[in-house]
Amino acid sequence: MKKVVSSVLVAATMFGNAHFAVQEVSAMEKNPLNEKKILNVAHRGASGYAPEHTIPAYELGDQQKGDYVEVDLQMTKDGELIAMHDEELDRTTNGSGYVKDYTLEEIKQLDAGSWFNDRYPSYAKDDYIGLQVPTLEEVIERFGRSARYYIETKSPEVYPGMEERLLEILEAYKLIGPNPASSQVIIQSFSPESLKKVHEMNNDIPLVQLISYSSPAEITEEELVEYSEYAVGLGMNYTQIDREYVEKVRSHNLLIHPYTVNEKEDMRKLLEWGVTGMFTNFPDRLEEVLKEN
Ligand code: G3P
Ligand code: CA
Repeated sequence: MKKVVSSVLVAATMFGNAHFAVQEVSAMEKNPLNEKKILNVAHRGASGYAPEHTIPAYELGDQQKGDYVEVDLQMTKDGELIAMHDEELDRTTNGSGYVKDYTLEEIKQLDAGSWFNDRYPSYAKDDYIGLQVPTLEEVIERFGRSARYYIETKSPEVYPGMEERLLEILEAYKLIGPNPASSQVIIQSFSPESLKKVHEMNNDIPLVQLISYSSPAEITEEELVEYSEYAVGLGMNYTQIDREYVEKVRSHNLLIHPYTVNEKEDMRKLLEWGVTGMFTNFPDRLEEVLKEN
């Protein structure tokens, strides 16, 4: 992105039109859906450095210049949306069992940080001990409109009403704009049904269809046309894609945000192929790569 910004400035200055260039760069910064803006998405926060989906991980993602903080959603027994990747509590808390079987009050008693210290001793901090699982509303209250949120409806088939509750919250906090480009959020899901439901309720929210490939990725023209009817972009595991795949997706003007890219060499390769952003546990690394040119 920095390369694009400087290229625009240099070109415009050469042609004596620096004012136009500054306007163009400013518009690009304001519109994160601009294809020239490479999005740095802090995957579960800066989750390479801090316990995923906790406020410290999100804060670090913000400090490390993530354009979006990624929030995976699960829903409690009493209908509250919480930030958690797994349907079960076991991996990232000291609890056990399914989120859907516990109330928010019960989940708030759990420790969502100590597991990280045990698993990643080189990044361990005493401050992580006893961290709570945040609700979506707590995350939004912490960062307000100064951040952007890349929110995933996880297992929506397990949680009837998840999309309605999500939109209620986003509307209450005024995070949805009058058009997709002005939205403070992107909603993503592996479930086309969930995304289509959101699209029917509010078509001003940009949507990203997630895809998980277990073999080299192939995508048909028909699939791309179908996705384009409701989504602004696609996100997929980067390990199964190649340049041809990226170019095919881009030829339909869909954004492409592969996940989860943690090594600089992979970041450089994907940028060279033409991706428009990516999810990373290490937003600082992507920021450094983007500054290289
Ligand atoms: O949302 C992009 C990426 O996060 C999808 O995979 O399993 O990390 O939610 P997952
Ligand atoms: Ca996710």
